[in-house]
Amino acid sequence: MSFFFALKRDRFMRFETICGKVIVGKKYRIWNLSNNEGAMALFYPFEMERYLETLLGERDPLLREMEEQSLKETIPIVTPMVGNFLNLLVHIGKAQAILEIGTAIGYSTIWLGRAAEKTGGQVTTIDMNKDRLARAVKYFKRAGLQSCITALQGDARKLLPTLDSTFDFVFIDAAKGEYLEYLHLIYPLIAPGGVLVVDNVLFRGWVVPGSDFVPKYDRMVGGLRQFLEDLCQNPDFSTTVLPFGDGVSVSRRLRV
Ligand SMILES: C[S@@+](CC[C@H](N)C(=O)[O-])C[C@H]1O[C@@H](n2cnc3c(N)ncnc32)[C@H](O)[C@@H]1O
Repeated sequence: MSFFFALKRDRFMRFETICGKVIVGKKYRIWNLSNNEGAMALFYPFEMERYLETLLGERDPLLREMEEQSLKETIPIVTPMVGNFLNLLVHIGKAQAILEIGTAIGYSTIWLGRAAEKTGGQVTTIDMNKDRLARAVKYFKRAGLQSCITALQGDARKLLPTLDSTFDFVFIDAAKGEYLEYLHLIYPLIAPGGVLVVDNVLFRGWVVPGSDFVPKYDRMVGGLRQFLEDLCQNPDFSTTVLPFGDGVSVSRRLRV
């Protein structure tokens, strides 16, 4: 994508975009960034991501349009690889009741919705940002998915306790500093055998102890480490963490 800063200067340099500036120095773990502080941050060579993306084949024009739009407006969305992965998991598990926390303009929701269409499933997606959610709903209509996606506006921390159904597929991609809270709230809502997928769990690779990162992210990184520890040590879940995109965890609920 043209918005990528292909700043590969040197493997041993670190770069970061802050307010549109590029700061180069120290060791780095991130290979490229879009100009929205890491919406598409990668900690492996961007050539690999580009190559793997070519293997996904041609995306539908609506998803392409959304990718362009999100880059233009610096709205963070999942990478196409992660979108495809979500779609695949819903298909494999034949998920029926799907919940997403963090809709933005609905890019990942459409990947989920396209699979739900086939499995006969329903997607419920939550976002607290009214404007973004309204735009997402327009995209759902354009995708012909309005009948299998329900959009709920509000703070997930308030909405989750009001949901009385259980879900067999949950995707979390909202405020990284709130992941631990979502985990506790989502816990009773995941059916046995249900799947929980969480994006950005490695957060630019900085979650790895000993990483060098900007101090303003201390709390977020600490929170994500705690989240991963809690999730991975929870005997009610079987979990694996995949180092692609910005780090994706996949868990299966073993018991109630
Ligand atoms: C990374 S974006 C979601 C991107 C989307 N999943 C995609 O890939 O297309 C995160 C979204 O979470 C929303 N969000 C953050 N905290 C939230 C909360 N507590 N409750 C509901 N939505 C929240 C933000 O408004 C933002 O639109």
